[in-house]
Amino acid sequence: MSRLVIHGGRPLTGSLPVSGRKNSAVAVIPAAVMATGPSTLGNIPDIADVRTSLQILEALGVRWEWTAPHTLRIDPRPLRSQRVPAALGKRMRASYYILGALLGRIGEAIAPLPGGDDIGQRPIDQHLKGFTALGAEVSVARGDVHVAATRLQGARIYLDVVSVGATINLMLAAALTPGVTILENAAREPHVVDVANFLNAMGGYVTGAGSDVIKIRGVEELHGAEHAIIPDEIEAATYMIAAAGTGGDLQVENVVPQHLEPVTAKLREAGCEIREEDEAVRIRAEGRPRAIHVKTLPYPGFPTDAQPPMTALLTVAEGTSVVTETIWENRFHHAAELQRMGARIRVEERTAVIQGTERLEGADLRGVSDLRSCAALVVGGLIARGTTRIFGLDYLDRGYEAMAEKLAGVGAFVERFDDDNVRLEPEDILPDSLEGRPGA
Ligand code: EPZ
Repeated sequence: MSRLVIHGGRPLTGSLPVSGRKNSAVAVIPAAVMATGPSTLGNIPDIADVRTSLQILEALGVRWEWTAPHTLRIDPRPLRSQRVPAALGKRMRASYYILGALLGRIGEAIAPLPGGDDIGQRPIDQHLKGFTALGAEVSVARGDVHVAATRLQGARIYLDVVSVGATINLMLAAALTPGVTILENAAREPHVVDVANFLNAMGGYVTGAGSDVIKIRGVEELHGAEHAIIPDEIEAATYMIAAAGTGGDLQVENVVPQHLEPVTAKLREAGCEIREEDEAVRIRAEGRPRAIHVKTLPYPGFPTDAQPPMTALLTVAEGTSVVTETIWENRFHHAAELQRMGARIRVEERTAVIQGTERLEGADLRGVSDLRSCAALVVGGLIARGTTRIFGLDYLDRGYEAMAEKLAGVGAFVERFDDDNVRLEPEDILPDSLEGRPGA
């Protein structure tokens, strides 16, 4: 079984590059399918969810190639199918974007009800309500969603919940729908803006993205375009939080500091010193963080995707922290594993009460079925004294590019093993020079 072995307690120091945003990549790739010609997408992370997205394109007949590291060329001209195979679609949540993209482009799409992390019920009723408002027939049978329309027409759509996925999916469909579509109570996440920018680069007409009212004037066709996607603020947040827990001094590169504000503000409150530069953030931390209260909210609130790593950090804070998860009903999988390291966490429904302890101790942990909860275990392992082994990295691989290499580059002792036959002992990863040192 794949596993990460972390010998914790080492401060993260130096500079670490952040990859392109997963949740932008998995939306921009289907958007490229809507064009009449090829598009070139830059800053695309090499992660499992991107590879699944590309397999889905292949199943639709769409051609793609990596023309350089992190640069994808997508040619949608050979599109010949409107069906996402169940086995692929169920692997990731974002397979639902093919519904909006193909409904706009060819008036029909079939995709399985989406999969993804196990973080609670994940309905797509708002997506379907929006497609219906645009004039599509929507049906769900044998686990597949089928959307089809002979004629679409722009509409005013009020989203009952603030949904990133529904906002993007409806923007995609509406971009090629005659007339004007107005999305009210839209999500404001930076990747919503990123997708709108790409649609506009393709000749679309989208205004208001980044606010809660988005207006889309449908155009007859979209052409291929060049677009580089925005940096992954959750990856950046994960490493900043790890630096905060290890007494590090870390420069996180290739970020938009403004996108990180909700996380930066809370880390400052916890006692970290953070300096923002044009495209980088430097975080310095000493000693234990202060306890803080965190409540997840849609952007620009504190992101749910950064909640698990933040919870891991607060296990070693001075004082008692309260973390409230308002987006997903089941996003504390990491709590039980962190308890094995000595964390004192009590979870009641959507709230975790964390009584900070002086330190965590390394342990053998099970990679849990939510990618950010897995990231929380990595943060725990980096903070803890001794050796932590995290078994089962499938979820982590969905969203973090080259995590072990990046962490090793800033002073962490992290090694990854994918070979089932390797028998591993903690000393296998200890460089000689560290043996016997306190904290090593
Ligand atoms: C996106 O999921 C992200 N995934 C998630 O990131 C992220 O946690 C989430 O947004 C919130 O920021 C992708 O972009 C692929 P939502 P999404 O629709 O779009 C409810 C990660 O770790 N809802 O904004 O599926 C829903 O149940 C992943 O990278 C409805 O009720 O999330 C939730 O409570 C995990 N009906 C809330 O809205 C709907 O039709 C927000 O969900 C849609 C959503």
